[in-house]
Amino acid sequence: MKRCPAARTSRRLTVLRLPKYPSCRTKAPNSIDFVEPSGFFVALDRTRDLLRGRETRNFSDCDVMTQSDRMIKIFDTTLRDGEQSPGASMNMAEKLEIAQALAELGVDIIEAGFPIASPGDFESVRQIAQSVRGVTICGLARCADKDIDRAWEALKSAPQARIHIFLATSAIHREFKLRMTTDEIVERAVAGVKRGASYCDDIEFSPEDACRTEHDFLCRVVEAAIDAGATTINIPDTVGYATPSEVFERITMLRNRVPNIDKAIISTHCHDDLGLAVANSLAAVHAGAGQIECTINGIGERAGNAALEEVVMALRTRQDFYHCTTRIETKRLVPTSRLLTKTTGLVVQRNKAIVGRNAFAHESGIHQDGMLKERTTYEIMVPEDVGVSKTDLVLGKHSGRAALADRARALGYTLSGEQLQQAFEQFKLLANKKKELYDGDIIALVQQEISGGSNREWTLVDYEVTSARNKTPHVRLTLKRGDTEKTETVEQGDGPIDAAFWAVERITGIEVVCKDFQVRSATLGRDAIGEVTVEIEHKGRSYRGIGASTDSVESTILAMLNAVNRIIAEKAYAETA
Ligand code: KIV
Ligand code: ZN
Repeated sequence: MKRCPAARTSRRLTVLRLPKYPSCRTKAPNSIDFVEPSGFFVALDRTRDLLRGRETRNFSDCDVMTQSDRMIKIFDTTLRDGEQSPGASMNMAEKLEIAQALAELGVDIIEAGFPIASPGDFESVRQIAQSVRGVTICGLARCADKDIDRAWEALKSAPQARIHIFLATSAIHREFKLRMTTDEIVERAVAGVKRGASYCDDIEFSPEDACRTEHDFLCRVVEAAIDAGATTINIPDTVGYATPSEVFERITMLRNRVPNIDKAIISTHCHDDLGLAVANSLAAVHAGAGQIECTINGIGERAGNAALEEVVMALRTRQDFYHCTTRIETKRLVPTSRLLTKTTGLVVQRNKAIVGRNAFAHESGIHQDGMLKERTTYEIMVPEDVGVSKTDLVLGKHSGRAALADRARALGYTLSGEQLQQAFEQFKLLANKKKELYDGDIIALVQQEISGGSNREWTLVDYEVTSARNKTPHVRLTLKRGDTEKTETVEQGDGPIDAAFWAVERITGIEVVCKDFQVRSATLGRDAIGEVTVEIEHKGRSYRGIGASTDSVESTILAMLNAVNRIIAEKAYAETA
């Protein structure tokens, strides 16, 4: 017995999930009337879990028995649903890097892509399956033989592989998209799952648009899919239409009505069209779901998917309520979020829960005063637990390579020898310009090294800016391609940034239209690193780039080169594919 940790609210009835409570095996209680001599009641709750507890006026007075938390699987779909969001496309090297980071974060399943969608998708799933270890690698397939075969072809080298098969079930999809009857849907679902199961044991089936599917039909499809061999049943809110209570009721309904539901794990996959994806996912878990599908920073189709960092921290911070846990190494949440931002250029808003820059900032005097007296007055999570360091000043120009490696490791980055060497050279240059280097500076610098190194074709050698009132600004720019060629040009523009754009275009020969340009500071202070994000269009496609420096013209050039190098990498891939 231990004291209840959440001694806050006054509750008349305190219940406790205790699924394996032995005395209930012989006499299955279904109402609260079953009361033990000790005063504890036992009951079945609405989700058919056994509950044990006792009536009390005050929660804090209640002794509860130690209970085991349910382990919730985290299924990350950043590289599949996330990558479908506009502006989030990644090249092969970037996908591999994100997959590795996800494995280190501790996700249970990585949905690496949709192999039949394109040769590039196939190849990235294949490479991730071949090289990323310690996690299940999953590939998406429509419920069709050629899709399932292709998915397996890409996945087969993974020690733990999963095929995720989906088929729409709602009336609206059946009628207008598939033009299929309910019988035909069930038949196709069974055939697809059986085909998948002939390749591997781990088969997930998703009745697409499940949250708008008639209850009776949903139960019928789910039961048939499980009988055919599905081991996970995912219930997607494909259009982000459901509310938390509806999700709770739907999962409860499935648990109550589908006779073989215990043979599969129930999963949730919520879209954020109404801003409810995280709340809906948590409602599903509360109703008994054992897997959450989510993405880093909540990226995904349209308004995105449930944000991984938010569901994980909600389960952890409110463990007293959900009685669930995950395998996520929460200290890697912020570094992983930053890596994704760096890779895709999709910046999270400042006030974004968990990973936004303001998530742990206290501005008002009353809050700051409370925090100084007792941190928990206004802080429900410890920032360090999600990878936000409280150490402000970290390094200066006298710091050595080992100190940089140490700090980078504390911030979540393990650098290879070559990466460390490159990062250290940049660090020395920066430390000469800027006396004090903060965590934000180190992160910007290290990420530039990690994500720039693999695909960079054009690199910056030197630049010089001439700008004065009433004079046309000029930029003299020298770039090199690979290890050899160096090219110099001098261009003018409406401002130095415009001139820098022209200069990059002139040397690389890649013509672009600038669609978006943003500057933000990586740390505080006048000498802060300025991070520039550009979105450029080339031949009708969008590319993003990020660059960081204390000089915004240099950040712009680096961001442009980052985007231009993506164009070059994509062209090179298209030529070899
Ligand atoms: O949103 C959705 O329905 C999906 C399915 C493929 C699971 O992404
Ligand atoms: Zn989706």
